[in-house]
Amino acid sequence: MDYGRSLHELSRLDDRVALIIGGAGHIGRVSADGLAERGASIVIVDISAERSQAVADELTARHGVKTLAIQANLENETEVKAVPQKVLDVFGRIDILVHLAAIVDPELGGWTCRFEDQSPAQWRRGLEINLTSAFLLAQGCLEPLRKSGHGTMIFFGSTYGIVGPDWSIYEGTDMGNAAGYAASKGGVIQLSRWLATTLAPSVRVNSLSPGGVFRNHLDSFHNAYANKTPLKRMASEEDYKGAVAFLASDLSSYVTGHNLVVDGGWTAW
Ligand SMILES: NC(=O)c1ccc[n+]([C@@H]2O[C@H](COP(=O)([O-])OP(=O)(O)OC[C@H]3O[C@@H](n4cnc5c(N)ncnc54)[C@H](O)[C@@H]3O)[C@@H](O)[C@H]2O)c1
Repeated sequence: MDYGRSLHELSRLDDRVALIIGGAGHIGRVSADGLAERGASIVIVDISAERSQAVADELTARHGVKTLAIQANLENETEVKAVPQKVLDVFGRIDILVHLAAIVDPELGGWTCRFEDQSPAQWRRGLEINLTSAFLLAQGCLEPLRKSGHGTMIFFGSTYGIVGPDWSIYEGTDMGNAAGYAASKGGVIQLSRWLATTLAPSVRVNSLSPGGVFRNHLDSFHNAYANKTPLKRMASEEDYKGAVAFLASDLSSYVTGHNLVVDGGWTAW
């Protein structure tokens, strides 16, 4: 009887190269750690050269894998377009593209303030970083991903790319929610579906939509968020590690065009 490959084998990523765009961030670092644990070489791409190098060095120290740090500002088309070649110059291949860079800065003026004050300039930046750079990197990585034999793209959406905000959870806080964020994340999810049917069968494309990660929020917000979540808590970065490893590896070799929602059930009712 043939039982197929073991789960252990299906999740191995030896000899594969993974690009993590936004890899110096919270979820990016932890997701990269999961892929490195399964044997992938890791390329961290982020706006900060220092943070990217620190994450790359830590992953090599933790897992003995090859790593590379690339500084790029995703608002700069020339810098974005240069990324794939820089990876090919060092590794000669690209197998996995994970895009999870996004503007999430609550301090940014004209972004998460009341709708009347949200600025077109920040809206454009949000679309550029969250969505247009994903489009450009999908184009730039396409040929190596086709050659890979296991090519896969994973784009990070959000619950706010699926449903509108419930403003009641923000009551009593100075937190907000940007229309440009929601529009860019809805765009990312649909871009993934479009790419999935366009690039099949050689490259798989999926999106992953997280719910909110707990980062020392006010108790009132945290409790309101947890109460609206069937699993009764906010997420931790670790909650996304398995989902990224699943979509990146042969564990999901028959999955394309899917939006994997990892939100504790937030969008289920
Ligand atoms: N944290 C959450 O609660 C949450 C919820 C839903 C979805 N998400 C999504 O998950 C992904 C990761 O979120 P996170 O919490 O790890 O965010 P994060 O801010 O910790 O990481 C994002 C990374 O993107 C990088 N980045 C931003 N602008 C850039 C630019 N112009 N050029 C290059 N790099 C740039 C940042 O430097 C940062 O390292 C994002 O796409 C976010 O929208 C997060």
